[in-house]
Amino acid sequence: MNTEMESYEKEASDFHEFDFFSVLSYRFFYVLLLLFFCQISDYKMELFDNLVGKAEKVLEIGIGTGPNFKYYTAIPNVSVIGVDPNAKMESYARKSAAEAGLKSEDFTFIQALGESIPLEDASVDAVVGTLVLCSVTDVTRTLNEIKRILRPGGIYIFIEHVAAEDGTFLRLVQNVLDPLQQVVADGCHLTRHTGESILEARFNGGADVKKASLSRFAYISSHVYGVAYN
Ligand SMILES: C[S@@+](CC[C@H](N)C(=O)[O-])C[C@H]1O[C@@H](n2cnc3c(N)ncnc32)[C@H](O)[C@@H]1O
Repeated sequence: MNTEMESYEKEASDFHEFDFFSVLSYRFFYVLLLLFFCQISDYKMELFDNLVGKAEKVLEIGIGTGPNFKYYTAIPNVSVIGVDPNAKMESYARKSAAEAGLKSEDFTFIQALGESIPLEDASVDAVVGTLVLCSVTDVTRTLNEIKRILRPGGIYIFIEHVAAEDGTFLRLVQNVLDPLQQVVADGCHLTRHTGESILEARFNGGADVKKASLSRFAYISSHVYGVAYN
């Protein structure tokens, strides 16, 4: 095991899961997310449809409290692995899984970072990431891990909030708020060019990256969503 890998694993195990501020800030951000969940759910339905009949073993990075379980239960024979560095999320995610009707044996929680996923190469049919690449420390490394663990022909579906267009007032606001956002929203960055990062990751079958503006919540209104093919 190389030193970089060891340091990521240490970071995952040291993650401040019982830190009051961490849980509070996640909840703060989560309440904000709820404000525009109705809009996001349209994109999610479109995206998760890509998994039906094509994926059984699904890994979700940064699963958080598990808001996506309701989409998984439409997938026949699905089993879900949720990766999150915050162990506190496991109980919330398990509750969401149960409420969505997923059997407990079909959900596994792993405390780990997206930058260092403790799974074999080509071991899952699909990877899901929603509103998580804003929070990881190393976007490129996380995308390389996604490619590594996806089987050939596997798919990665994503929805991420991203930086607004350069030169816009919104972008100026994001630049100003970004340092504060990282503190109050548990490491979330406002000014990442995640769509470009996904394209630059060069998935074998390419990536279809769409842009969307979710008007109900202004300062994180710019999003990308889509599918990448391994
Ligand atoms: C904004 S929440 C999104 C949760 C969920 N995916 C959703 O759609 O609501 C970001 C999640 O990413 C997790 N996270 C933070 N750093 C991470 C990393 N390096 N690798 C994987 N997950 C990470 C956080 O613990 C948190 O659960």
